[in-house]
Amino acid sequence: MPGFTRILTALSPVRLPFDSLKYIVDNAAKYGPLYGIYFSDTVTYVVSDPKLAHEILVERHAEFHKAQMLRNAIGELIGNGLLTSEGDFWRRQRKLAQPAFHFARIAAYGETMVRQTLDHITDWESGETRDVAQDMLAITLGIVNKTLFGIDVRDQAKRIGALTYVILEAANDRLNSYAPVWEKLFRTRRRREEAALGELFAIVDGIITEHGKRADSGDLLSMLLAARDEEGNPMSAQQLRDEVMTLFVAGHETTANALNWALYLLSQNPEAEAKLMNEIAALGGRPPAMADLARLPYSEMVIKEAIRLYPPAAGATREPLHDIELGGYHIPKGGNIAIWTYTMHRNAAFFPDPLRFDPERFSPAREADIPKHAYLPFGAGPRVCIGNTFAMMEARLILITILQRFRLTLAPKQTVQAEQLFTIRPKGGLKMIVRPRDGA
Ligand code: HEM
Repeated sequence: MPGFTRILTALSPVRLPFDSLKYIVDNAAKYGPLYGIYFSDTVTYVVSDPKLAHEILVERHAEFHKAQMLRNAIGELIGNGLLTSEGDFWRRQRKLAQPAFHFARIAAYGETMVRQTLDHITDWESGETRDVAQDMLAITLGIVNKTLFGIDVRDQAKRIGALTYVILEAANDRLNSYAPVWEKLFRTRRRREEAALGELFAIVDGIITEHGKRADSGDLLSMLLAARDEEGNPMSAQQLRDEVMTLFVAGHETTANALNWALYLLSQNPEAEAKLMNEIAALGGRPPAMADLARLPYSEMVIKEAIRLYPPAAGATREPLHDIELGGYHIPKGGNIAIWTYTMHRNAAFFPDPLRFDPERFSPAREADIPKHAYLPFGAGPRVCIGNTFAMMEARLILITILQRFRLTLAPKQTVQAEQLFTIRPKGGLKMIVRPRDGA
């Protein structure tokens, strides 16, 4: 049996001030790269070793499915979409969606990414304190909707953000507490979640209906609407909603958090910020384009390092389809496995001086020293993030566009703590003061 620990908060009907990220890192130090968290008869096997991660995600991927605990937590929200579907069905859906994420296609999204950012920041006033986390959500949500679904949701962005928050909060409680009993006891919270789900579904259904009335615009939603199975049947309304909902959720909050952490870390590391500004100066003040990114390698290093320290998706979950041996331990069929990226990313054995923000780790000279699969912000193997290239380009373009025009400093008294709520986000938001750059 792996070393084990009990998750006491699981017994608690209210969410205690519990730092799940610290808990997981501390346990890895105490119990090693594979240990179990026990609650009643449920065990979660936590993996924080690159070789084991490689074994699960790549070498033996066919022996695993996504864990049931993930479906229990967010199944209602994203149904049988790309993130949670399995087998031949998943393979078909992935193949269908893939063209929207090919490099040439993403390159064409660049202009929209920059335009959406510029439109959003025109309202920023010199010296004001803003919750930048809200700004990043609005920008990335706008981009996913425009590029993948061909729609504008600027007016609804705030509402969608609030609804998503309610749902993910409830889902996260389910994921962390394994205690369906509380669901029954806490009906008010459940009702709030149900209302949020209902409203969000109505918004997404509206998007799909609206889109169906228009001519094929070549975006992902057009492809999904046009898709036919072997018998010539279109995707069901439910499946369409699941796929749109999945991309909606997986495709904006993650990138928004990558940006939150990059902006925060740059504000705390003036040398890195100066180096980035120096690189951006080559653009002479004009907005960036996708074609510029090859000449702006430091911007990529900054994002990669930000999502090393704060991987927006803290990890990946799996369950074996039959009893297996893993790292010398027996894991039964259906056992919950959580591959904990956050812990690996903060392990000094893989990243020397791990808490230091050091974008140079990802310079061409040093990146090769990182052990294979010790750095997994986008997962690995066949279920690797479909949006990884999209996300990296998007994050860099948004970051450059903002920093060209504004300098962001942390608001006084603002303390920043990472909170794991499916994604790793700054707890309570990220208040920063925005000031225009000279000449911007
Ligand atoms: C910094 C931003 C992002 C991060 C850190 C991230 C992270 C991840 C990770 C770790 C996985 C794999 C989960 C697993 O193996 O269990 C994943 C899957 C996925 N991501 Fe992302 N993601 C990001 C952005 C995006 C974007 C922009 C999109 C779409 C527009 C997207 C859509 C998806 C989808 C659909 C899957 C499921 C793929 C499949 O199973 O076939 N993600 N993401």
